[in-house]
Amino acid sequence: MTGGSGARPKVHFEDVSKAFDQRGGTLSVLEHIELTIFEGELVCLLGPSGCGKSTLLNICGGFERPTRGRVTIDGEEVDGPSSQRVFVFQEYGIFPWASVWDNIVLGIRHLSKAEQHRIVAETIELVGLEGFEKAYPMELSGGMKQRVEVARALAVSPDVIYMDEPFGALDSLTRLSMRSELIRIWQEKQQTILFVTHDVDESIQLADRIVVLSARPGRIREVVEVGLSHPRDLGSPEYGRIKNRLYELLGVSHSV
Ligand SMILES: Nc1ncnc2c1ncn2[C@@H]1O[C@H](COP(=O)(O)OP(=O)(O)OP(=O)(O)O)[C@@H](O)[C@H]1O
Ligand SMILES: [Mg+2]
Repeated sequence: MTGGSGARPKVHFEDVSKAFDQRGGTLSVLEHIELTIFEGELVCLLGPSGCGKSTLLNICGGFERPTRGRVTIDGEEVDGPSSQRVFVFQEYGIFPWASVWDNIVLGIRHLSKAEQHRIVAETIELVGLEGFEKAYPMELSGGMKQRVEVARALAVSPDVIYMDEPFGALDSLTRLSMRSELIRIWQEKQQTILFVTHDVDESIQLADRIVVLSARPGRIREVVEVGLSHPRDLGSPEYGRIKNRLYELLGVSHSV
């Protein structure tokens, strides 16, 4: 889906700016971020290293306070972390001492045993880890560990899932298949996902809309709508056109 008419606004950045105090000075990291993300949308934040992508996610997740402006989710101001807004990081956040099942169940311990069982079994099936319920992270491949992370996030039925370069540590083939897995899961669960990447192709393969940020201090250069349905044809002229536009916005040439 896209953020077209009729879609419900989910996350709203209202003129968000962020500066950090650094060694006596002030470092302006984000300036005047104004953006609405709609329910069920998959939005990519694309920008060069250090432009403030992770900071923007952290503000949205309530881990950092904006210096100016505010973020609302469902109309309510974000003023701290919440179990309804979960993160999936590049570095594996799963617990090495817990099995796949135990890692996924951690966030839903407050539910009845029967509910826990139903949700974990369903999520394991969704991410394709059947048969590995009792395995420990050290017995899994990198891609499988990322599946456990995604499963753990999905199990809590969060309002918004934040993904900060979640596939960055994987090899290129696994990355490709994780992207199509993510799209399949997202289409089934209809979650709102805010996905950070500095990979142009990854953003075109995944996003409904791509928010292109400038180098620090990060400002929105343009929001690029990807009007392609899934599965996306990576060789189509429209894919190429979007890719060229993104490179142009990022100020880099993609011919060598
Ligand atoms: N807690 C902090 N205190 C001071 N400066 C910070 C803090 N967090 C981030 N910064 C600075 O803010 C800038 C943006 O950092 P951020 O991690 O948001 O970038 P990014 O776009 O996610 O980069 P990358 O693509 O490399 O992950 C950097 O210059 C960093 O040094
Ligand atoms: Mg980052």
